[in-house]
Amino acid sequence: MSQQVVNVEGVNIPVTTPPQAQPEPKPKTKDPLYWTKDFPLRFVKIFAGPPEQPRFDKSGSFRIYGCREGGKSSTAEAIALKFRERGGNIYDLCAAADNEQLGFLDAPFVEDVVLLKGDECLIEPPQGAKYRIMRASDLDPLTVPEDKKVYVLCRKLFYSEELYYQQMLRIVERCALKDSWNHIGCILIRESEQFLSATLRTHQAKTSAEAAAQVGRLNATLMHTGHSIVMDSVRDVEVLKTLREVSTYVVMKRMGNMQIQRQYFWIFRFITPETLRHLFPHQSIVLTESGTLALMYNLLPPFHIVRGSSLAKKHGLDNPKFDMEAVKRIQREQRQSQSGWQRVVSFEDHQKIVEYRKQNPPITFERIANQLGISESSCRRSMNLHLRNPRLCECEPDAT
Ligand SMILES: Nc1ncnc2c1ncn2[C@@H]1O[C@H](COP(=O)(O)OP(=O)(O)OP(=O)(O)O)[C@@H](O)[C@H]1O
Ligand SMILES: [Mg+2]
Ligand SMILES: [Zn+2]
Repeated sequence: MSQQVVNVEGVNIPVTTPPQAQPEPKPKTKDPLYWTKDFPLRFVKIFAGPPEQPRFDKSGSFRIYGCREGGKSSTAEAIALKFRERGGNIYDLCAAADNEQLGFLDAPFVEDVVLLKGDECLIEPPQGAKYRIMRASDLDPLTVPEDKKVYVLCRKLFYSEELYYQQMLRIVERCALKDSWNHIGCILIRESEQFLSATLRTHQAKTSAEAAAQVGRLNATLMHTGHSIVMDSVRDVEVLKTLREVSTYVVMKRMGNMQIQRQYFWIFRFITPETLRHLFPHQSIVLTESGTLALMYNLLPPFHIVRGSSLAKKHGLDNPKFDMEAVKRIQREQRQSQSGWQRVVSFEDHQKIVEYRKQNPPITFERIANQLGISESSCRRSMNLHLRNPRLCECEPDAT
């Protein structure tokens, strides 16, 4: 091996190994389900640092990034399968609009798959379906047994994006409260951009910086509560710096023409930039917390979505019915809780107050208060609310 010096993005770097991409390893056995026992995912080459293999028996956070179609989601699924193999549950919470997560319905362990729907969704599993459907609000990660279940939060089964995001955050927050466990659960966030916007859309954060900070906090907490978090995102910059620093594994897929952070330039002493930019989808370059630089191989999970096919249609989930009364009720409750509104008087009393005040001349608050046996200030507040926002006090029906 000859020692060369190459100029990488303006920096002179000695290269010790020649660039090479390895061919995809062939499965060793003919049994198509051979992978169900031990899913093929391992470091096949260690370039630097202590020799190790990825750990799935303790919490970790995986940040996967690379260019489009680089194999990010398939690696994320493969990592989740490794945690499931060791007995943990998978929470597959956040995916793009193609419902990629429904791929789990084609897995051989489909009896362990539970689809999570909104309270307002009336769908039932089709005849003969092996998976279950339950309300997302009934799922409490603190109390469900750790037994290799796959909980899939499916956007299709929610009336609105807000309701979907709300359940997504609720589940993650419940996960973050766990204080004892036997197996590590795996939270799969397929589109981290979406997860960030969830905190904004549900009004939990006001600015994107606040949202990023909140996600960073959640990520750090989850590590101490028996969960691993696997995040799949296209670019590195949009997930804040703290997230990058707390990642146990930084998994780089084919980088294509994407910018590579300066802090990673040292790896070009071991692999050439061309190698990193042209990786095959089954390959990843992994940097671990302890500084190991490795080439990782993973099999494509056989149930991974085939681009262009609608999994929702295939499984008869593409046209769910919604209970509109429930939708309105939930939306109203949301509005009330967001505005910090509290009912001061009962709805019947409120209607009486409004009626008395509409009379000509209006009856004084003092008399109303005496008649209804409630305080004068409550009457005033109730009436003010009615004038300001009759949708909050429920006098005006929802427009939706
Ligand atoms: N381990 C693998 N072995 C062979 N082919 C793979 C592997 N992983 C992914 N591929 C191929 O690459 C394609 C894209 O993979 P995947 O959906 O994981 O990419 P992605 O980076 O998540 O894309 P996007 O950015 O669009 O979400 C797959 O459809 C599959 O054909
Ligand atoms: Mg993807
Ligand atoms: Zn009113």
